[in-house]
Amino acid sequence: MCSELPIGVFDSGVGGLTVAKEIMSQLPKESVLYFGDTARVPYGNKSEETVIAYSRQIARFLCSCNVKAIVIACNTASAFALETLAGELPVPVIGVVKPGAKTAARITKSKRIGVIATNGTIRSGLYERYLKSISPDIRVFGQACPLFVPLAEEGLCNDPVTREMATRYLAPLLHEQIDTLVLGCTHYPLLTDVIGSVAGPSVTLVNPAYETAKELRALLTERDLLRTSDTPSIHRFFVSDGEEQFRRFANSILPCELEEADVNRKVFS
Ligand code: DGL
Repeated sequence: MCSELPIGVFDSGVGGLTVAKEIMSQLPKESVLYFGDTARVPYGNKSEETVIAYSRQIARFLCSCNVKAIVIACNTASAFALETLAGELPVPVIGVVKPGAKTAARITKSKRIGVIATNGTIRSGLYERYLKSISPDIRVFGQACPLFVPLAEEGLCNDPVTREMATRYLAPLLHEQIDTLVLGCTHYPLLTDVIGSVAGPSVTLVNPAYETAKELRALLTERDLLRTSDTPSIHRFFVSDGEEQFRRFANSILPCELEEADVNRKVFS
């Protein structure tokens, strides 16, 4: 496997750009090939079978583009499809759930951890299983926050409506006196200010996107796949629909200017 090859990153849509952004800033020499399944978003309320089927199609597409590793930059797809893809694909695959869970387990003092995520991720119970496998006495309190995704996509990151929803969603977790809160959905890091201020200073937020980029570095180092060349990295973006909207969103959060995203629906076949 050649270290010059790009890293394949995929998500149900724009949310995984928060992970791509961390990869670009922590591993600036790496090239990223991103696929956002904007035609079929959201994955958060779909069944396990459907999410596995979609993830498999995209991962195969990324492999056909010659990537050296795949990052499942979607919590729901990581929860449902990581094991399947890791067992099938010829390249290493990592998801976002494990890195976030590992960090939360490390930093909690009270061993009371909140996880906010999509319905699918909460239903999968994966965060809880990982956390308890690290430390069985950890208590995990999950809360699905389905409205956070459209609020983030509408750019209402600091809006009173978002604050109101955060207050409602977080109330049961704060009642349980959590000291650590995992932002278990790709969009939630965009709402860090509101979530952090509602949660208060006694709760530490964990951003799995940041932790995943760190884990990716460790994986590439271990496999001798870190790109060392000094020629500039090249990032490419594919979406299954809504190129214009995707580009606008990407340019509002990525460190690089995205001039175009290719629309590719061949993955569906
Ligand atoms: N990317 C998804 C996740 O992290 C959120 C959006 C969706 O429901 O597809 O779970």
